[in-house]
Amino acid sequence: MTLRVYSRFITLEGGEGAGKSTVLSALRDVLSATGTDVVSTREPGGTPLAEQIRGLLLDTHHEPPTADTELLLVFAARAQHVRETIVPALERGAWVISDRFTDASYAYQGAARGGDIEFIAELERRVVAIAPGMTLLLDVPVDVGLQRARGRGAADRIEGERDDFFERVRAGYLERARLQPQRFRVIDATQPAAVVAAQAVAHLREWLERNP
Ligand SMILES: Nc1ncnc2c1ncn2[C@@H]1O[C@H](COP(=O)(O)OP(=O)(O)O)[C@@H](O)[C@H]1O
Ligand SMILES: [Mg+2]
Repeated sequence: MTLRVYSRFITLEGGEGAGKSTVLSALRDVLSATGTDVVSTREPGGTPLAEQIRGLLLDTHHEPPTADTELLLVFAARAQHVRETIVPALERGAWVISDRFTDASYAYQGAARGGDIEFIAELERRVVAIAPGMTLLLDVPVDVGLQRARGRGAADRIEGERDDFFERVRAGYLERARLQPQRFRVIDATQPAAVVAAQAVAHLREWLERNP
């Protein structure tokens, strides 16, 4: 079973505070300006039910989920997101930009949490079954990203992890990019936000030329 790749599906990846939300709005603006039908979405979440699962994942007020619980909740949310939001939009010809997708599970539930990568790959094949055509990885040193993210207010459950967890997230993402160089574009996200956005937009324009 192989993943169905949609060239109109673009994902943004990176750790906390890398600038994904900032870049997402820049890409959405570029696509909408040309009259393109574009859906922007995020993970975990992207449907009402999946957003509720996000709440369960990030809440600090109940007992922490075990690693397996976290993994299955993330994929439960993703299953809903794929079926209810992403695939319907792609099938009607829209572009979809998602703030995080399955690569995040390889980085967080796999590399950082120590989950079984083969099991994650199996869930990807059986439950997700689709992949983005292009993925922009915003790479930033952990301390820089966390400082930006913590400027946003109270930390959620994941943001409250220790720095070594985020070092493994970062390494996990860079490993994904190394394994799939044709899909990934790695951007140095320590640069000023306007420069990062401009580089992301340049990748998008190049992608649009190749995939009209
Ligand atoms: N390249 C950048 N340089 C400095 N600050 C940035 C940069 N990109 C984003 N920020 C700021 O850092 C914070 C986190 O950015 P955000 O886009 O929310 O990151 P993410 O969605 O990856 O967690 C925001 O306050 C944002 O304005
Ligand atoms: Mg964000």
